[in-house]
Amino acid sequence: MLGLKERLELMEEVKRECLNCRRCSLSQLRTQVVFGEGKIDTDIMFIGEAPGAEEDLQGKPFVGKAGRLLTRILESAGIDRDDVYITNVVKCRPPGNRNPTPLEIATCWPFLEAQIAIIKPRIIVTLGSVPTQAILKTKESITKVRGKWFEWIGGIRVFPMFHPSFL
Ligand code: URA
Repeated sequence: MLGLKERLELMEEVKRECLNCRRCSLSQLRTQVVFGEGKIDTDIMFIGEAPGAEEDLQGKPFVGKAGRLLTRILESAGIDRDDVYITNVVKCRPPGNRNPTPLEIATCWPFLEAQIAIIKPRIIVTLGSVPTQAILKTKESITKVRGKWFEWIGGIRVFPMFHPSFL
């Protein structure tokens, strides 16, 4: 088991690689890569779909309208945003906020996989259908699975929620 210092270093290494990524065409359109942010030593990880316009400008996840709502949802559950880790399935903004394609998700997947492996959260909350379907490898609609618990790899439990922009 790695210590916190090693885990932080490893995360920085993965981030460096991600910031230089040119594996798919979204890299040509981005202003900034939105790698993810938050506490490495946390029990809960929130995974959204992909950066929107504001996130692309700031290089941070969930900082636009949906992000402000997410912060409020967390606060109402007694969770401080700084105490969790927040990222997206795809790290660069799809044009016009379209859904990321299966190929874009697959191409970006190793970064998310590495983040999960470094953080080792007890709980992953998926926000909306894109991360839910990608993580649970299901085609089931978010309406059916949201609010239910799923067992995932390594004993991690997954809890799908509606995307804040839907709410
Ligand atoms: N929607 C997402 O899914 N992720 C963000 O970072 C912002 C909006």
